[in-house]
Amino acid sequence: MRKPILAGNWKMNKTPAEAVEFARALLPLATRYPQVEMVVCPPFVALPAVAEALAGSRIGVGAQNVHWEKNGAFTGEVSASMLAGLVDYVIIGHSERRQYFGETDELVNRKIKAALGHGLKPIVCVGEDLAQNEAGMTDTLVAGQVRAAFAGLTAEQAGQIVIAYEPIWAIGTGKNATPEDASRVCGQVVRRAIAGLYGAGFSQAMRIQYGGSANDKNIGDLMAMPDIDGALIGGASLKADVFEAMVRITAERR
Ligand code: 13P
Repeated sequence: MRKPILAGNWKMNKTPAEAVEFARALLPLATRYPQVEMVVCPPFVALPAVAEALAGSRIGVGAQNVHWEKNGAFTGEVSASMLAGLVDYVIIGHSERRQYFGETDELVNRKIKAALGHGLKPIVCVGEDLAQNEAGMTDTLVAGQVRAAFAGLTAEQAGQIVIAYEPIWAIGTGKNATPEDASRVCGQVVRRAIAGLYGAGFSQAMRIQYGGSANDKNIGDLMAMPDIDGALIGGASLKADVFEAMVRITAERR
């Protein structure tokens, strides 16, 4: 049985003070909905304060990015050793990082290895853009991203990872993938690619989130799908009442 995981990717939003206030408002959810794993991913500068505010609660904290090297002359970057002990998760390979910051499949793989090497659990993002989707390239592209991300990882390492399937055309557009399409890619493409690497039994334990305009209106239908194990949530995770509604609906579906 895969425990559903809802993660809020706050992106470049909220000052440290706002982030802490928001994190405190989420605290009651941890005891109310033990069936759902919750994670918040604030910007780097808010991580220490948010981690402190949520310490001892069941709400996890994640970073939005990590560098692949241990340390050195990489102005503006943050390494896995700096995040170790501070956060539980780290988002790697988000499409915005791939698109605006030149992250390649190879870098994603190196970042995953760096994160795992410091006990951080990667949330690895994959997904196709609109042109690729319309050209019928989704399955090949997404399967390729998964295989590249997991290159050289042992099953033990792979078991630490959560995958987020985020079709780029659905991110921030208010246009989510249909639950059926999202579940098909999560199951027939992502889970199958994992099965090809580590075996069918292993792939059944892998948690795969959907991301892209997920909100309180569509999360119920998404979570009713057999191969969707949660969501990576952008805009809707910035409002406490909407995030709570999403957690509650997810808990009710399980
Ligand atoms: P939205 O939920 O705002 O579409 O963002 C999704 C996302 O990119 C989460 O990582």
